[in-house]
Amino acid sequence: MPSEAIAIASDHAGYDLKLLLTKELQDLGYAVLDLGTGGPESVDYPDFGFAMAAAIRDGRAARGVLMCGTGIGICIAANRHPAVRAAVVHDAYGARLSRQHNDANVLCMGGRTIGPDVARECLRIFLETPFDGGRHARRVDKLTHPKI
Ligand code: RB5
Repeated sequence: MPSEAIAIASDHAGYDLKLLLTKELQDLGYAVLDLGTGGPESVDYPDFGFAMAAAIRDGRAARGVLMCGTGIGICIAANRHPAVRAAVVHDAYGARLSRQHNDANVLCMGGRTIGPDVARECLRIFLETPFDGGRHARRVDKLTHPKI
C-alpha cells in the first residue's frame, strides 16, 4: 500500500476528470492532496498550476496530476517553477516516456481531449514507471539549472 500523497488539481474543464482520477488514486491506495478546483464553475487554470508548483516546492507532495481542457495551459503554469517537470500526456507511450526520459513529476491531461480509460491507464503508468537515469539524468539536470 503506497504511503505517498499525490497532489491533484484542475480548472473547471478538468474537474470531471479530477473526480475520476481522485477515485482511481484512492483505489490504488494513495492519499490524495486536493488543491482544487472544488466544482464546475469557471476558474483560471494558472492559479491551479501554481498551487501544484507550490505543493511540489514545499514538499507537500513529490508527484502530482493536473487537468484543464487540453492539459496545456495548466502544464505551462506548473512548469514556471524549476522544481516542476510537468508533461502533457495523451497516451500510454507518452506516460511511460515522460517518466523514463524526463523524470516528470507532474502528469497533465486534458479533460476535453482524453477518455476515462486512457486517462486511468496513463495515470497508472506514470505512477509505476521509474526514471531511466544515465544520459537522461544529465539532460534533466539541465532543465533544473537552465543556462538561458
Ligand atoms: C478553459 O476554457 C481552457 O482554456 C482551459 O481549460 C485549458 O484548456 C487551457 O489550456
